[in-house]
Amino acid sequence: MNQIKSLSEDLRNKISAGEVVERPSSVVKELLENSLDAAATEIIVIIEKGGHQLIQVRDNGHGISTDGLSKAFKRYTTSKISTLADLFNIHTLGFRGEALASIASVSEINVSSSVDSVSGYQMSISNGVTSDIKAAPPIGGTEITVRNLFYNTPARRKFLKSINSEFRQIVKMVRRFGLDFPNVSFILEHNNKKVLNLFPESLEDRIVSINDPTFRDQLLKVDLIKDDYKISGFVGTLNLIRKRPGQQYIFVNHRYVQNRLLNSAVYSAYESLVKRGEYPFSLLNLTIPADQLDVNVHPMKIEVKFIDEWRIYNVVKSAVRDSLSSILSTIPSFQYDKSFYDSNKTFVPNQDQEPIDFNIFPDSSTKKDIQLPKDSIIHFNARSKESTIKDVNSLWQVHNKYIISQINSGLVIIDQHVAHERVLYEEALKAFDNTPLSAQTLLFAEELEFSPDEYNIIIELLPYLEKLGFRMKEKGEYKIILEAIPSNMGWGNENTVIRDIIDNYISNKENSSTFIEGLAASFACHAAVKAGDSLSEEEMNLLVNNLFTTEHPYYCPHGRPIIVQLSLEELDLRFERI
Ligand SMILES: Nc1ncnc2c1ncn2[C@@H]1O[C@H](COP(=O)(O)OP(=O)(O)OP(=O)(O)O)[C@@H](O)[C@H]1O
Ligand SMILES: [Mg+2]
Repeated sequence: MNQIKSLSEDLRNKISAGEVVERPSSVVKELLENSLDAAATEIIVIIEKGGHQLIQVRDNGHGISTDGLSKAFKRYTTSKISTLADLFNIHTLGFRGEALASIASVSEINVSSSVDSVSGYQMSISNGVTSDIKAAPPIGGTEITVRNLFYNTPARRKFLKSINSEFRQIVKMVRRFGLDFPNVSFILEHNNKKVLNLFPESLEDRIVSINDPTFRDQLLKVDLIKDDYKISGFVGTLNLIRKRPGQQYIFVNHRYVQNRLLNSAVYSAYESLVKRGEYPFSLLNLTIPADQLDVNVHPMKIEVKFIDEWRIYNVVKSAVRDSLSSILSTIPSFQYDKSFYDSNKTFVPNQDQEPIDFNIFPDSSTKKDIQLPKDSIIHFNARSKESTIKDVNSLWQVHNKYIISQINSGLVIIDQHVAHERVLYEEALKAFDNTPLSAQTLLFAEELEFSPDEYNIIIELLPYLEKLGFRMKEKGEYKIILEAIPSNMGWGNENTVIRDIIDNYISNKENSSTFIEGLAASFACHAAVKAGDSLSEEEMNLLVNNLFTTEHPYYCPHGRPIIVQLSLEELDLRFERI
């Protein structure tokens, strides 16, 4: 542990100065950085009233000595650098010796600290006046309490947002550090309620703890060493794509940074898998030599400059691409010719009031004649360069399970169940938003009996079930009469589908967005054509065509691949032609 010293005039002038205390979450950030720089492994953050009233951070780090305490809250005093050369070789999160002074100038502070188990110290700062340092029991680390933030700067106090909004920012900050340091335990309390309780764990477990269990099977490991650059972490499968940003983390030497070039390296590794406005999950830890990086660019240190930006761009891109290779190799880079289908109304699902019928169940008595455009067109492009137009009418079903088709670069194998599942999943999501799916009236209405609590749920879910194409009436005594089922669902499955939807509702009640997705997924899974169902050529065509109008034709809602590609090259290789 270095001594806290005052920086030289020259060095002070070279430090990127500026205000670091904008709002409560910035205080939390500075205090957490200090705790982590002090090698803490247990950190407790206590907040009252969104931080307006109280912010307290307690750690089990190496502590501050009495001599250090007398200096730590003065400007430009730090134990982390002392010479100009140090400024280009930074291994700590802090280095400017500014944060505590800034915080102390706009709040009331109490600090307790101990560097051994024998004795501790305590000190306070209020109205700019620093108290004497008093002896106190040792606390095995440091505890800094910040009260009445901006009490002496009413203009800034006025700009504070609501308690909830400030607290949300704090949660975001603590989560970010939680992801950066999975081996450290973090507790976050707000108004005496525990909001986060993270135990030391692996990065993968930490990502799951901070998000939700659905992340568990959707994380692909990133691990690459390229000369003196090391990159590790996880990227999400297509199931972790969100419509807004906020789940992309890049830590460079443990510092959270925002850098457009690195973000674009990640996005470009996903190639055509993500569209504009779609954001996959990513968490990357970059370890690079300290002299390859300038962190002294911005007072908040959230921006950094890389000595060789393009090198880092390429390393990030290839590391992410390696991890995604399992997904990318299953994706043949189809370019679906949408304009063709738009001009052919039969194949534009969910765009007109009349829902299209895509019943592909061979044995369903409600099956209608399916009209197919004769020359269904799919453009295949070998990753980027568009090449040939192919006819997809040549489809074969093998083992009543897979659909096989020739493509320009080889052949593709489609899993019929997951393909249909993807189609139904997206149809169901759209149905919840607007156009309901079409219904088929049952020849004989069916009576279903439920337990009282299941029955209550069914009543709550009625509006959703109707959107999917279920039509039911209450009969009383916990019974309902089922009159119609979705036309894209085979008969005989309705009982299972409805009960599965109830279970899904019970387990996801808390989270409404997951609930909607879960509902669509369980409907899709049970309603989809199964392995073992034989399909006619027309039905296969319809399925493949519908598949390519979905947003994500390559992965089923549970993350399993839908399409596997076998390239000509691979075949040639196996037949020892090349
Ligand atoms: N929780 C802590 N445990 C041990 N030492 C601490 C702790 N918090 C602060 N210090 C000591 O106080 C000094 C001043 O902290 P301060 O945050 O003001 O500056 P810094 O971390 O050096 O640089 P920056 O302004 O970039 O954060 C630190 O250099 C460190 O020695
Ligand atoms: Mg600091």
